[in-house]
Amino acid sequence: MTQPEANNTEHIVKNVDLIVSKSDEAGNITYVNPIFMKISGYSQANLLEQPHAILRHPDMPKVIFKYLWKNIKEGKDVIAYVKNLCADGGYYWVLATVKMAKNPDGSFRNYMSTRKCITENAKGTISELYKTLLELEKTEGEEASEKAFYTFLDDNNINNADSFNAYMKNLNK
Ligand SMILES: Cc1cc2nc3c(=O)[nH]c(=O)nc-3n(C[C@H](O)[C@H](O)[C@H](O)COP(=O)(O)O)c2cc1C
Repeated sequence: MTQPEANNTEHIVKNVDLIVSKSDEAGNITYVNPIFMKISGYSQANLLEQPHAILRHPDMPKVIFKYLWKNIKEGKDVIAYVKNLCADGGYYWVLATVKMAKNPDGSFRNYMSTRKCITENAKGTISELYKTLLELEKTEGEEASEKAFYTFLDDNNINNADSFNAYMKNLNK
């Protein structure tokens, strides 16, 4: 997996865009919809079987993905803001809903992420939060960043996966 160097070109996600992907248990991509390819700038062949981290933007703090994985592995849905890296080094912001789907017998089927555009209000709050978390991660380490993340959750009365998701959804207004 090779990643481009990030630049400041924003790719706009429109109101009508619904960017979908599915993955196996390890997060490797098994399905992408056409708009996923259009916005990211990757072909289907370049995406399938690749880890979702192909989209990982250097501005994203690790703690967000740690929170995501902890919850989806437990079968809990996660609604979270993600800044993604495009093939040309540009970026796009999305509000992603990530869920685990199960087979009728209860076994793991896939993870699925459905991503939509975000408001300026959400972008303002979340980019400030992520900036602080990333700065702490780089200067004091992951534990300090995680502590600050949980302080942010406490300060906003977010004490479980449902209240986390409700807060993130509400911010996107
Ligand atoms: C269904 C699904 C969708 C994901 N979508 C993204 C995504 O759009 N962007 C992203 O950076 N990570 C996404 N991830 C998280 C990645 O698997 C990975 O944890 C993240 O990119 C951080 O990379 P790292 O764990 O190698 O540091 C997704 C994971 C799953 C299961």
